[in-house]
Amino acid sequence: MKKIQISPSILSADFSQLGNEIKRLEEGGADMIHVDVMDGHFVPNLTIGPPVIKTLRKYTKLPFDVHLMISPVHKYIQDYADAGANIITIHPETTDNLQASIQFIKKLNKKVGVSLNPKTKIDIVKDYLNEIDLILIMSVYPGFGGQKFMPEVLSKITNLKNIRDEKKLNFDIEIDGGINFDNSKLAIEAGANILVSGTTIFKNNNGNIKKNIDLLKSS
Ligand code: DX5
Ligand code: ZN
Repeated sequence: MKKIQISPSILSADFSQLGNEIKRLEEGGADMIHVDVMDGHFVPNLTIGPPVIKTLRKYTKLPFDVHLMISPVHKYIQDYADAGANIITIHPETTDNLQASIQFIKKLNKKVGVSLNPKTKIDIVKDYLNEIDLILIMSVYPGFGGQKFMPEVLSKITNLKNIRDEKKLNFDIEIDGGINFDNSKLAIEAGANILVSGTTIFKNNNGNIKKNIDLLKSS
């Protein structure tokens, strides 16, 4: 079984203190930092872009797990690689040529992730599973933190895990959206090995990040 890793989303952090918030996450035991990039077009919200990510790079050695919710995505991939992303995750709907975008991310020596919205079927990535490092299963419609977890996506995780075992592949399965101390166990049982969480990590237990990360890890 793959080790369970926690990727806190800085979407729920204090944006006026992002550098320090990232340090707090590292001290609290985060395995990577989830950076939600939104364009106000593919999703109905706007967040941060490459210059901000670049300035944050010096605050931690942890990998930046950059979740791009921007369309069209392809022409911006280089900028996020240059800004210091370690994992670059894209949505299939945001590129004309998924294979070309996957190959481009690999060529830049970054890990490549593909994210599936709640209604997007796993068929869309089936042909690329041997090239992908990570599949990000959305358990909310992307755009906002603090939404309610959609348990119906768990079957996609189990299906992906079965395919991975059958084909002896190695991609990670990450889940993102509405993760809390109850459903984290369900996600892990289904086969997820990376949990993204914003609200639960930053707001629960009076914002005790270490405690919240530990609780999620021990689900
Ligand atoms: C949603 C983002 C998620 C989300 C996680 O579009 O991709 O990363 O903000 O936040 P919570 O844990 O609050 O759902
Ligand atoms: Zn995300």
